[in-house]
Formats: sequence, C-alpha cells, structure tokens
Amino acid sequence: MPYRSWLFVPGDSEKKLDKVNTVLTDVVIVDLEDAVAADNKQAARELAHDWLQFHIQHEGATGFHRWIRINAFDTPWWRDDLQAAMPGRPAGIVLPKCTGPDQIQQLSAELYEMEQKLGFEKNSTEILPLVSETAKAAMSIPSYIGDTNPRLAGLTWGAEDLSAAIGAGRKRDEDGAWTDTFRMVRAQTLLTAHARGVMAIDTLHSDFRDSDGLALMATASRADGFTGMLAIHPGQVEIINTAFTPTKAERAHAQRIVDAFAESPGLGTLQIDGEMIDQPHLVQAKRLLGEA
Ligand code: COA
Ligand code: MG
Repeated sequence: MPYRSWLFVPGDSEKKLDKVNTVLTDVVIVDLEDAVAADNKQAARELAHDWLQFHIQHEGATGFHRWIRINAFDTPWWRDDLQAAMPGRPAGIVLPKCTGPDQIQQLSAELYEMEQKLGFEKNSTEILPLVSETAKAAMSIPSYIGDTNPRLAGLTWGAEDLSAAIGAGRKRDEDGAWTDTFRMVRAQTLLTAHARGVMAIDTLHSDFRDSDGLALMATASRADGFTGMLAIHPGQVEIINTAFTPTKAERAHAQRIVDAFAESPGLGTLQIDGEMIDQPHLVQAKRLLGEA
C-alpha cells in the first residue's frame, strides 16, 4: 500500500474519525497533539484507543495505514498517549517537536517494552518524526543520517511551529514560494531522508480550500523527490494521491528507457527522441516503475 497521502484527524472528533471511512487516504494520523485542546486530551485518547481497535482490519490492501501522533516529550501527556494507543496496534507513531535521534531512541525503548507486553513483534511499530519544529531542531536535521534505529520510517517537517518559534510573520513570499528558512528546512528534510534511506514526507498546505495551490505544491513535491505529503482535510487527499501517482505517459517513457538499455546491454549512454539518456536516467526510470 502506498504512502502518498497522510491525513491528520483530530483525536477528539468522533465525527471526523468516522468520516475517514469515506476518504481514500493512504495513511490516517489520529492526532492527540496540536489539534486537541489540553482539556480534551483524555477524551481524545479514549476515542483514539477505540478507533484504532475498531479499524485493525483496515490495515491492509484496501484500507489505510493507521498512525497516531502523540504529544511531545516535553509535555506530561505522551506516555498516557502511548498507553492508550498501543493496544490498538498502530502502524506507527508520529513524534512532534522531535529534537533529534536521541528522542527516536527514547521512543523506541518505550515501544520495545510495550510491544513485548502486548505480544507484538519486536520493532513492528514505526516512527515518523517532525524534525523542524524549533530553531535548534531545524538546525540539526542532518543528524538523523547517523541514526540507525530500524523503526525510523521517514522524516517530515512543519512550518507552523517553526514560524511561531522564530517569530516569522510570513512563511511564503509574495509569489507564494516558501521563504529561505522554510526552503532550507524542506531541502534538508528531503536530502537527509534519502541519505538515511527512509521516506521523505512533505509538509501540509494549510489553506485547505485552495485546491489549485495544493495541486501545484504536491506536483512540485513529488518532482523534488518526496514520497508523500501531509494533509489536514479530506478534500486534499485525492489531489495529493493524483500528484504522487506516475502518469501513464511517465510510465511509458520510463519503460522505454529500461527497454532501450536492456536491448543494448553494452551501452552506458544512448539516445531516445534526440535526448541523451545515461545511468541516472535508468535509475530514475526504474524507481518510477517501482523496480529500483
Ligand atoms: N479528517 C476527517 N474528516 C474531516 C477532516 C479531517 N481532517 N476535516 C474535515 N473533515 C470532515 C468534516 O467533519 C466534514 O464532514 P461532513 O461532510 O460529514 O460534515 C467534511 O469533512 C467537510 O469539512 P469542512 O466543513 O470543509 O471543514 P471543517 O470546518 O469541518 O474543518 C478543519 C476544517 C481545518 C477544522 C478540519 O479540516 C480539521 O480539523 N483538520 C485537521 C486538523 C488537524 O488535525 N491538525 C493537526 C495537524 S496540523
Ligand atoms: Mg504543531
């Protein structure tokens, strides 16, 4: 099952948790963090617990991956979040405000104990950290390259908390492009994820009624090398899925490249329709066809 669209659902909203049954998202992230007010944390945990249990059967070919976002390690809440979620066997945990590989290690140790108690396979629960939510975290994104934790499924980033942390009055310039700070963070997330061999998940488009803007963003995101993208509204899911699915023409072109090299095994470089094609093109074509 692909990992193109990652839809956040507020953990305290029974209505929205029900709604995901009608949405073809690849991943559901039940949020216990920023989408849930302090007074609702316990109610959200209980709903999340029930939802995860109920949807265990949707973890499969036709359903969605079930993830949960716990509260950050600098809060009093994260341990109770894990206790509530783990019996429902979530596929993974989104860790907000992650400060670096040490916190991946810390979460991994907690999960190890819980998996043992619950009789789950060791290391079966994955982790996706939000790597950019403070200035210090944002400046140490490459440190994940040295991480070796088998649970690390990918890296993702967010602009909201970082802009609040640094007092940025804007995240985008007058043309709608990310300002330098956010471009740097995005590029580092992308490169570090590839250096580490895990998924690179692009951040969300908060203007959820702006379908055209999202389509442009998601198309650019895939073209830049991201695996998928975060979403906050059901209306964003199909747009993201489409943007992250290779078109027929792209697949056909990739197949031509693969075939051309297969027909001329001795050649390192050849041409197709007057364009030079060499090894990086072959790597790219195979990746697109899911063969790499
Ligand atoms: N997951 C599931 N269902 C959602 C949803 C979500 N993230 N966002 C909206 N819906 C549902 C609504 O309940 C509504 O359902 P209905 O058709 O049965 O009435 C439908 O989709 C249309 O929603 P709409 O009226 O357009 O939006 P809204 O005003 O209800 O909600 C937000 C807008 C932004 C509050 C909502 O999209 C949301 O809560 N997003 C997630 C926020 C979040 O998790 N943030 C943390 C990560 S940054
Ligand atoms: Mg946040």
